[in-house]
Amino acid sequence: PQITYVQPDGERRSIAVDAGATVMLTAVANGVPGIVAECGGAAMCATCHVYLDEASQPFVPPVSEVENEMLESAAAGRRANSRLGCQIAVPAGVDEIVVHIPSHQV
Ligand code: FES
Repeated sequence: PQITYVQPDGERRSIAVDAGATVMLTAVANGVPGIVAECGGAAMCATCHVYLDEASQPFVPPVSEVENEMLESAAAGRRANSRLGCQIAVPAGVDEIVVHIPSHQV
């Protein structure tokens, strides 16, 4: 499977991953700009904020209570498809998930 990151200017980058790879860790490990991840994946910073592509919505479990609270402090403004990149992963059996990077994280 792969995770595709779409930058605010429209640039797309797809990275091959194993099932279970999170959006945040994959971005950090591959130098994808725009994912800061200050807390290292503990759902406590909201600097891994992404907008989950509509086509990917069915593949990712819904927002948890902790994630929901943290998204309220996302710097770029929360939308209906806002997620924390550290809390979403590519499930087994899914070919791709696509996320859009917000304009800023802090
Ligand atoms: Fe801090 Fe995701 S890395 S909330």
